Amino acid sequence: MKLRRPVIAGNWKMHKTVHEAEGLVKDLILELPDVSNTDVVLCPPFTALYRVAELVSKTSIRVGAQDMHWEKEGAYTGEISATMLRGVYCRYVILGHSERRQYFGETNQTVNRKAKTAMAANLRPIVCVGETLEQREKQDFKAIVRSQVIESLDGIPADQSGELILAYEPVWAIGTGRNATPAQAQEVHALIRSILVEIYGVKQAKKVRIQYGGSVKPANAAELLSQPDIDGALVGGASLEARGFAAIVRAAS
Ligand code: PGA
Repeated sequence: MKLRRPVIAGNWKMHKTVHEAEGLVKDLILELPDVSNTDVVLCPPFTALYRVAELVSKTSIRVGAQDMHWEKEGAYTGEISATMLRGVYCRYVILGHSERRQYFGETNQTVNRKAKTAMAANLRPIVCVGETLEQREKQDFKAIVRSQVIESLDGIPADQSGELILAYEPVWAIGTGRNATPAQAQEVHALIRSILVEIYGVKQAKKVRIQYGGSVKPANAAELLSQPDIDGALVGGASLEARGFAAIVRAAS
């Protein structure tokens, strides 16, 4: 039995129309009739959120968004607010995914603003951190991860930290088929946990769930999830297919 309840999230990225999403969710509900000891979160694109939330409403599956804006509302063409996400029954939101950092200029500071806004709106942020291949090879990746964690969580009070989810996603493992080994992942998860101890103290740091992400598949999920500080997975490619994603959820439970 794990100390923390595992949380498996599927990041669909820019895949699936509403129609395609319906098919995937219906298959998933059939594959996962009774999940009780794992939190399962689906993160479809904005356009499918409402329909997916409707379809899972009588199950224990929850819905999350892949990004949001830090302001409550205003003249931000193309953006989506936390309140809008709550309005379509979102409970979670992925923030600072490496693709947002790489292609859309997301920084630790914007992630921090978004995380505070999300928590104020009762959305659980899934805050993503992780080094690039170059950073890993230069051996300064621990300092990178450290500043990502500290700056992204700046000002989030200890009494709210239990709602936080962190995702360690080494950029070199995302979509490449090359996952971190369980030992490599555990090493960084333990580092993140120690940073959380510095920020929030031991008792609170023990409550924060840290997901691993980067080429998680049915074949490697169980071993990754058996590591003491790996509390779940953020799954990209393998979440687009019901049977594979369900197998990863079962590996956690
Ligand atoms: P992947 O993506 O599982 O396809 O590697 C993970 C992610 O980007 O969250």
